[in-house]
Amino acid sequence: NETITVLGLESSCDDTAAAVVRLADGQGQILSSVVYGQTALHAAFGGVVPEIAARAHAEKIDLCVEEALAASGLPLTSMDAIAVTAGPGLIGGVLSGVMCAKGLAAGSGLPLIGVNHLAGHALTPRLTDGLAFPYLMLLVSGGHCQFLIARGPDSFTRLGGTIDDAPGEAFDKTAKLLGLPQPGGPEVERAALGGDPARFTFPRPLLDRPGCDMSFSGLKTALLRTRDGVMAEKGGLTVQDRADLCAGFQAAVADVLAEKSRRAMAEYLTLDPAEPVLAVAGGVAANAAIRAGLETVCDEAGLKFTAPPLALCTDNAAMIAWAGIERFRLGLFDGMDLAARPRWPL
Ligand code: KG4
Ligand code: ZN
Repeated sequence: NETITVLGLESSCDDTAAAVVRLADGQGQILSSVVYGQTALHAAFGGVVPEIAARAHAEKIDLCVEEALAASGLPLTSMDAIAVTAGPGLIGGVLSGVMCAKGLAAGSGLPLIGVNHLAGHALTPRLTDGLAFPYLMLLVSGGHCQFLIARGPDSFTRLGGTIDDAPGEAFDKTAKLLGLPQPGGPEVERAALGGDPARFTFPRPLLDRPGCDMSFSGLKTALLRTRDGVMAEKGGLTVQDRADLCAGFQAAVADVLAEKSRRAMAEYLTLDPAEPVLAVAGGVAANAAIRAGLETVCDEAGLKFTAPPLALCTDNAAMIAWAGIERFRLGLFDGMDLAARPRWPL
């Protein structure tokens, strides 16, 4: 029974992170996980500014690694490998992580493992729940939205995804249009609690088309139009108007995700998995209405529903260290020529 300990680095979006994860007795264990978020740095700009992100990653990544090692109680020399997100993501940030990891690997003689950020998210349920392959995965965050069948640590089948915005992005833009703070997802969800989802009608884009592709940019446009209609009529938005708009928007997103999940499940079930599972990850998976919709569809189709704890759903380095462990076991290592990739489909 092998013991593998890996230091992981993540810097592909707006979180600088490092973590130490160990596999022992067939189980993954997070020894430390440090995340420096950049939300405050980008707040004034209504989105992540790549140059600001890159500089912040470069400033924080060494400190992150030091803190993760210190918190794990282990020196670098106790690691078996260094894993790092090599893409996809904002290239300046990815480069900070990859260069730091190369320096650590060169200095210590440890092997280097490049990890696809999406594979990191997609493999997390194996760390948290010990899921067996194949399982169905829905990634829903501010940057991603796709259905995957996870067949192995290095084997994923993409069933479909968004053709424009990610749902988290749509939540964030909705919040902005309604004068709510960022990140918008939790704000819209809170506002929607007191709202009537049936007062305004929002589109369910692409539901009339076969397959698992989704679209969320039209929803944002519909929200803008509806908001302007109400404002023109009343000269402003009441708290109730805002709540009803949020509830209608959220219900539309939840419906689209639930219906497309139904289709993804049908395709996944043709593999005849012994224990059929849908796992969700990404910040949007925190939304209770969206989760409830997915759980209903899982019940109907006979799948188990699972989601990693929120701190492991959003960007972190424990998922990268874990993906590194999975690749280590397969002997999948990288050389000093490991490239940072802005685009890298699974
Ligand atoms: O996974 P994540 O932390 O970062 C990446 O995008 O990779 O996801 C952040 C996104 C943001 O767009 C945020 O608004 C959204 O997830 N989000 C939510 C909720 N909590 C976070 N969206 C809807 N409902 C929520 N409760
Ligand atoms: Zn992510």
